[in-house]
Amino acid sequence: MKTMRTELTQANLAGIETELLAVLAADTQTSKAPDAKPEPVLLTADDAVKAAAAAVLLSGEYKAGANETLLLHAPAGLKAKRLLIVGLGKQAKATVDKLRNAAGAAVRFAKPRGIRELVFALPDAEVLPPGPNTRAAVEGAFVGDFDPDTYRSDRKDQSIQSFTVAASAGSDRAALEAAFAEGVIVGESQNFTRSLVNEPGNKLTPTLLGQRAALMAAEVGLGWELHSTEKLHELKMGAFWSVSQGSAEPPSLIVLRYEPEGVTGGPVLGLVGKGITFDTGGISIKPADNMEKMKYDMAGGAAMIGAMRAIALLKPRVRVIAVVCAAENMPDGKAQKPGDVQTAMSGKTIEIINTDAEGRLVLADGLTYAKQLGATHLIDAATLTGACVVALGYANAGAFSNDDAAWAKFDAALATSGEKFWRLPLGEEYADQIKSDIGDIKNTGGRWGGASTAAEFLKVFVEDTPWIHLDIAGMAWVEDAKPYIAKGPSGVGVRSILEWVRSY
Ligand code: BES
Ligand code: MN
Ligand code: ZN
Repeated sequence: MKTMRTELTQANLAGIETELLAVLAADTQTSKAPDAKPEPVLLTADDAVKAAAAAVLLSGEYKAGANETLLLHAPAGLKAKRLLIVGLGKQAKATVDKLRNAAGAAVRFAKPRGIRELVFALPDAEVLPPGPNTRAAVEGAFVGDFDPDTYRSDRKDQSIQSFTVAASAGSDRAALEAAFAEGVIVGESQNFTRSLVNEPGNKLTPTLLGQRAALMAAEVGLGWELHSTEKLHELKMGAFWSVSQGSAEPPSLIVLRYEPEGVTGGPVLGLVGKGITFDTGGISIKPADNMEKMKYDMAGGAAMIGAMRAIALLKPRVRVIAVVCAAENMPDGKAQKPGDVQTAMSGKTIEIINTDAEGRLVLADGLTYAKQLGATHLIDAATLTGACVVALGYANAGAFSNDDAAWAKFDAALATSGEKFWRLPLGEEYADQIKSDIGDIKNTGGRWGGASTAAEFLKVFVEDTPWIHLDIAGMAWVEDAKPYIAKGPSGVGVRSILEWVRSY
């Protein structure tokens, strides 16, 4: 993985020689009156930078809206060749998450302009806390640096070569460095996930996804195992295998283990990911429109793999096992059919109503296996249902939990990750919708409440183990480019799952 060089400085901004110095501005206008004009101010104590930007801020041309940029060449009194002002929006609503995006916006401003190196100045401690800021700025820079056009034959690699965070001289160096190092690990891990999700189905089969995970695991010192059809039969993973049976590509059962030295007691966290490298729908085939996007149906599995990378490098004092169930969902003479009955690893029988509800099938056995491997707490991530996208759109991912304590930890993790998950209901009414006439349960619950009936399906295999289910169908792919992130894979989940793990 080629990666951006990152540095931390506490030098005086005016004296920094750079192609581009980015500073933040916020709107301090608090009046809601219709004629109230924005009052942008720079979020820096540096007098030289303030002087260089004074005239344009007075002009009223720049409003410091979120991610609004303004470029000044040859700023007076500064060693930097360019001064870029990046807006945070209303000062009263400034958050670390908005700062993360602003850093990404600065990077994405530089990339197409041939600028390969920049310095991003953090606001003063009074505006936002310096530690979380430093980490978020680095994360945002990595997120912004990613572009998906890796297969263009005339691709001009516009990656940023060097990104420097400039913190104020007063901040504690050791704390800044720790936060900075975290930002690098998390940003790189999220981009690792995105690079996997970006790969088309023909370039990343279940087998190749397993190999990429194993290569990463060996690099960062995780334990790993790769299994295929034979092992699925041996473990009696009838649900997982039934999805793979229609494909010429064998399935891959990917296991990653993080076992910190000296930790023998305490919880074992099980991370389970849906790794459908391509979802045609199977015999219940999907319409052609947008089917190409179903290459991202392994985004949940990729999020777990990326989170494991970050876990291996950040070394929390808790054991973690990841299980990723990778398969291709294809129509074929050998494919499973609606009406088929499958026996899952747990022994439960599943009536297949729709072969396109395949994610829950692979997860059913993945969850059972994670428990068998010793997981005391479970979290899964999956691009599971279109219904979740109908419910929450592209603004929030769905989340479900059978355990308020586990959920509280996840909810707290969101404050650090900046990712948006909205808790949706489980309930007996939804469980009733997936009762089968012929067997224990069926794999679809009808038209209504589809995200909840899918979650209830998973709960049958989770049983009483504390568990969180993340439905990232709407959030794993950025549909429209934003100033701070390219159109394409988002890497959603990596940061929140990581923080949840670190909370144990
Ligand atoms: N992978 C899809 C869900 C999906 C939809 C992901 C849109 C990303 C964007 C999943 O396997 C699926 O096909 N779900 C069906 C379930 C239905 C048949 C009960 C769906 O949501 O339509
Ligand atoms: Mn499907
Ligand atoms: Zn799917």
